[in-house]
Amino acid sequence: MREPAGPPPVIVCRDLQKSFRLGGGVVHALKGVSLEIAAGDFVAVMGPSGSGKSTLMNLLGCLDSPSAGSILVDGQDVSRLSTSQLAAIRSRRIGFVFQQFNLLRRTIALDNVAMPLLYADGGGGGRTARRAKAAACLELVGLGDRMDHQPSQLSGGQQQRVAIARALVNDPAILLADEPTGALDTRTGMEILDLFQRLNRRGITVIVVTHDAEVAAAAKRVLTFRDGLIVSDRRNERPRDLAAELAALATATTPREAVA
Ligand SMILES: Nc1ncnc2c1ncn2[C@@H]1O[C@H](COP(=O)(O)OP(=O)(O)OP(=O)(O)O)[C@@H](O)[C@H]1O
Ligand SMILES: [Mg+2]
Repeated sequence: MREPAGPPPVIVCRDLQKSFRLGGGVVHALKGVSLEIAAGDFVAVMGPSGSGKSTLMNLLGCLDSPSAGSILVDGQDVSRLSTSQLAAIRSRRIGFVFQQFNLLRRTIALDNVAMPLLYADGGGGGRTARRAKAAACLELVGLGDRMDHQPSQLSGGQQQRVAIARALVNDPAILLADEPTGALDTRTGMEILDLFQRLNRRGITVIVVTHDAEVAAAAKRVLTFRDGLIVSDRRNERPRDLAAELAALATATTPREAVA
């Protein structure tokens, strides 16, 4: 008898390879990665510096195309698309969060978050509609009271929340985060992880690159890369529960209840 089907994969990679020309030589960043990620999973990607983690994320995030092999995102083959076709998929299906937040410096949180909607189909329905959507996402990440602050007027954790709200504004199926807690202190990193777990419980597939085993311990599945290949793929039987850990710390200053 066949196994009952699990959730359908949102990402399927087959023998994925990526090489870069550098000077006279070639760097083989990914050397044949095959991988399926189920809808609703929470995956941590670990491995030493230079092992290919960011290269994989850029391919999954439709920021770049593979040298060989294929990637299906939500059933669609994105391996051989043009830059503008990739941008269209990215804006409909994928949210991206970076270590350094990548916010526009002299732009208030609300407009930073609304920015991707400008590039969405139909310009996101006009400025008022864009700002309303952005405001809802800022509420979701607990920053309803900081919408008119510029990044320099926000803490690191708040800036990363703005970046997460921006990643959510197009209602993505997949949230990709490359070292999202790398620039944050432990407690603030916990709050960001808590937010990812809450979003994951709402059905968003989350993929997080991290060097930190404590961060990976919050994921349901942990992939480890070495030299452009996956060398380990395991399930976490008992992922950390950040909501419970933060409740236990109980200083009650963050509005993390905003994401139910
Ligand atoms: N644009 C590029 N041109 C040339 N080589 C590149 C390029 N991007 C990445 N590489 C090389 O590909 C390999 C994998 O890089 P990648 O950025 O994926 O590593 P990583 O696992 O994310 O490392 P880190 O943990 O330091 O962020 C490295 O050897 C890197 O030098
Ligand atoms: Mg990297």
